[in-house]
Amino acid sequence: MQIDGKAYRSIWPVKNHLAVEIIDQRKLPHEFEIVRLETLEEAATAIRDMYVRGAPLIGATAAYGVCLALKESPTDASLEQAVAVLQSTRPTAINLRWALSGMQKWLANLPASERLEAAFTYAAQICDEDVALCRAMGNNGFELIDTLWKQHSRTINILTHCNAGWLATVDWGTALAPIYMAHDAGIPVHVWVDETRPRNQGAHLTAWELGQHGVPYTVIVDNAGGHLMQHGQVDICFVGTDRTTASGDVCNKIGTYLKALAAKDNGVPFYVCAPSPSIDWAINDGLKEIPIEQRGEEEVHTLSGIDVKGHISTIKITPDKAPVSNYAFDVTPAKLITGLVTERGVCEASPAGLQGLFPEKYGTLT
Ligand code: MRU
Repeated sequence: MQIDGKAYRSIWPVKNHLAVEIIDQRKLPHEFEIVRLETLEEAATAIRDMYVRGAPLIGATAAYGVCLALKESPTDASLEQAVAVLQSTRPTAINLRWALSGMQKWLANLPASERLEAAFTYAAQICDEDVALCRAMGNNGFELIDTLWKQHSRTINILTHCNAGWLATVDWGTALAPIYMAHDAGIPVHVWVDETRPRNQGAHLTAWELGQHGVPYTVIVDNAGGHLMQHGQVDICFVGTDRTTASGDVCNKIGTYLKALAAKDNGVPFYVCAPSPSIDWAINDGLKEIPIEQRGEEEVHTLSGIDVKGHISTIKITPDKAPVSNYAFDVTPAKLITGLVTERGVCEASPAGLQGLFPEKYGTLT
C-alpha cells in the first residue's frame, strides 16, 4: 500500500537479515514512525504492546521474532524458548500459533548452522503468502460489492469494525481488501468506520488507511451502526477475524457480535473475511473454546489522541478508582454470519460450507 506515494508493507527485513522494521501503529494517525526490532524481546514487546496488531501481522511478526532469537543462538533450546515467549504475547489470534508452529516444523530438523538463513526465508514466505491470500480474498469479496453496485447503481455503503486493513496484515488487509479493489475498479463506495473503543483501531488506523488510499469514509461511534442499519444506510458489513472455528463461529474485536446482531435484525448481509491461517480447524465451539484476551485497565480509563499543541497525549475519562473490565474480543456465532470470504471463495459459515472449500482440513471429521 502507498503512504504519501511510497509503497510499504507493514513489516520488512533489513540490514542483511539482522533486523526487521515495522510501523509503530500506536502512534498513527498522528505520527508515522518506523521501529527497528533486533531481538526476540523487542519482537515480543511489539506484539504484546500493540506496536503491531491484527491477526495476520501478529503471525508475521512472531515469525520474524523467531529469526531474531536464532540470530543470538540457533540451538534447539533457543528455538523452543522463542516459540514459548512469542506464543504468550497475545492469546486470541490463531495466526500466532499457526506461524510459530510452521517455523518450528521448518527449522527443527535443520542443523543449527543453517537455521538463521532458513528462518528468514520461511518468515518471508509467510509474509508473501499473507499478501497473496489477502489479494485472492479481496477479489472474492470484490464480487459481493460488484453485485450490489450492479443492483443499485449508487454508492455502496459498507460498515467495518476495528482495523482489518493492510496495517493488520502484511499488505491489502482482510475486510478492507474487497473495498480497495472495488474503489480501484471505479465502483463508488463509502465506508462507515466504527471507532472501536477502547484502542480506537477504527478511528486511528482504518480511517488513516482509507484516507491514504482515497476511499471515502465516515468515522462513527461504536453504538451508531445499528441505527444506520435501521435507516437503510448500510448495504453490507465486512469484518475481519482473529480466529474462526471449523464450524464457522468467528472471534473478532469486541463489538463485532453486536454489529452482527443488528445486521441480522435489519437484513444487512454480514460477511467475515477469513484467510485460512485465521481458521482454527481443531475447534468448533467459539464461545467455549476460544481464549478471550483481557487487556489492561488503562485502555478503558483513558483516551489517547493529539492535544492542542500537536503532541500525542493521553487523558483519563473515568472517576478515580472506577472498576473497569476490558475484554478485547467477542464471538459471533455462525448463525449470524451471511458468509465467510476466504482465499478460495465465499462460503456459508458452517462446517459444510468450510468443508466445501477446504476438504483437506477436515480429514476424518464429518
Ligand atoms: O486487538 P487487535 O487490534 O489486534 O485486533 C484486531 C482485530 O480484531 C482484527 O479485526 C482482526 O485481527 C482481523 S484483521 C485482519
